[in-house]
Amino acid sequence: MNALELDTVLLSPDRTCLEILDQTLLPGEVKTLRLSDMRDIREAIHSLRVRGAPAIGVCAGYALALAASQIETEDRETFFARLRETKEYLASARPTAVNLFWALDRMWQTAQTHADETVPAIRETLFAEAQRIRDEDVAISRSIGELGFALLHHGDGILTHCNAGTLATAKYGTATAPIYIALERGWNDLRVYCDETRPLLQGARLTALEMQAAGLDTTLLCDNAASSLMQTGKVNIIFVGCDRVARNGDAANKIGTSAVAILAKHYGIPFYVCAPSSTIDMSLAFGAEIPIEQRAAEEVTEMWYKKRMAPEGVGVYNPAFDVTDHSLITGIITERGICTAPFETAFRALGF
Ligand code: MRU
Repeated sequence: MNALELDTVLLSPDRTCLEILDQTLLPGEVKTLRLSDMRDIREAIHSLRVRGAPAIGVCAGYALALAASQIETEDRETFFARLRETKEYLASARPTAVNLFWALDRMWQTAQTHADETVPAIRETLFAEAQRIRDEDVAISRSIGELGFALLHHGDGILTHCNAGTLATAKYGTATAPIYIALERGWNDLRVYCDETRPLLQGARLTALEMQAAGLDTTLLCDNAASSLMQTGKVNIIFVGCDRVARNGDAANKIGTSAVAILAKHYGIPFYVCAPSSTIDMSLAFGAEIPIEQRAAEEVTEMWYKKRMAPEGVGVYNPAFDVTDHSLITGIITERGICTAPFETAFRALGF
């Protein structure tokens, strides 16, 4: 299997449904869901059938275009009222990845810009805009990949956390893009270390699958083995993705990322956050302002286990993301360039 050939989310050719690769079934089963009901699409985002900040944005764009095509009215006022309701409904699926709101707002603004046209014309414009969001995402990931590739050396060991791979984007991923570019250039001596990423195991189920399928020397480790691995000197560089970056450079990513960054600082290993422009939220001053999703206790106490592995009634702390302090980040790789501290100045210099 070549992971780059797997499409995370597409609009069906007849434009009647979204085709979503159900990532909850990976690595065991490759199954594509065909969803047209907005309740099912919201559930797919909430349940991480489609996941990863950029892929969530692409999905939201297609979903709103599909919703627009399902609104049975030619009356613009009614059309916009229903479209707004659906936009708000989809926005409630997950709170942390800003790409969800970014894509929905972009679609909404596009519709507003064409508000004096007929409803059928606005629907067409929305389909085109959603496709643009997807196409741009592929190009953005490639640009991040080129910039990240320039940081690599032959034989490097690369550690990553969660899955910021092709499965989390339209193609290439963000944290994995430098690796895919290296493979394209014929490099076959990189080593990739995948944190398993408790509790949902995106590192084990998705990143390890992608990297192994790409023919890379791939090693999986428990999250709590990261320090031990870094101590051996086998990790030369760390690439992670992100779900939202505040303007001071604080970056929210999958739970456990900040621990990796703290370790990286201790061991002197460069730690890079790969951030498409759609994840940079200049409206937030600090990472503490980023809403952090809290998820069900069952993900910790029983999911994946043959039987429950925690006493009944125990309290569970299960945040889906944490914020890595900007002081721990060597650089933030955007598609426009690599930003270093002070990050706000660097972001503004690149036009964010
Ligand atoms: O909960 P998930 O699986 O959606 O979390 C994904 C991550 O944390 C990724 O690292 C992030 O979205 C960046 S994906 C390019």
